[in-house]
Amino acid sequence: MTAIPLARQLRDGTRRAHHLLDHHPLLQQLIIPGLSRTAYARSLLAIHRPHGRLEACVLAGAQQLDITLSEEIKVSSRTHRLETDLEALGVVPPCVLPSALPVAVTPAVLAGQCYVLEGSRLGGQVIARQVQRALGAKVPVSYFDSPQPEVHWRRFLTFLDENCRPDEAPVVVAAAQQAFDDYLSALSEAEPSRGWPPSGDGVSLVR
Ligand code: HEM
Repeated sequence: MTAIPLARQLRDGTRRAHHLLDHHPLLQQLIIPGLSRTAYARSLLAIHRPHGRLEACVLAGAQQLDITLSEEIKVSSRTHRLETDLEALGVVPPCVLPSALPVAVTPAVLAGQCYVLEGSRLGGQVIARQVQRALGAKVPVSYFDSPQPEVHWRRFLTFLDENCRPDEAPVVVAAAQQAFDDYLSALSEAEPSRGWPPSGDGVSLVR
């Protein structure tokens, strides 16, 4: 029997988490008509905390494991882009608090965290276009419109292949799930919406 590729297991194992996240009101409002500048700033502000701490956690894990993946992430830090966009919108970015996530002590855990960090670029360009459609071409979208998401994604897939064994799949998927959970709880803390996440959600999938 052919083993299911790790990337596929990651996708299948976190499908519901992604669905909950991209349907969260703070992210949904970015891609549906009627977005205001204030609402956009509110979404960016809510993203700042979980994104910043995930990025910091991945960097610390890569450093601890002496993995050069951090080189790429370092030069393309998106926390910096997020803060630039917030400042352009007149919002002072808060300090990033320490991560609730464990700093990786194995490449498998790092891979799971990286999956969420790098995957979060993939929908970015669609979001950037929607935000510009709603608010005009001059609205700052450097976070969502970060360059070459597919290059970063391929690099991540190579990292996954080269550093994780198939039998480590449960560890990789659990680390990704934990990173998604942290993201989701940070968004929900930023704007507790009644009835979110929906219980017994039928999960119609976007991916
Ligand atoms: C409104 C918000 C979002 C939208 C519209 C969105 C949309 C997308 C799209 C279109 C893809 C590519 C799907 C494909 O190529 O099959 C994708 C992939 C992905 N997104 Fe999102 N996304 C959003 C938010 C997020 C966030 C906040 C995270 C993580 C914190 C995230 C993590 C991922 C991951 C890990 C993948 C890779 C899926 C795979 O395994 O192929 N997304 N997203």
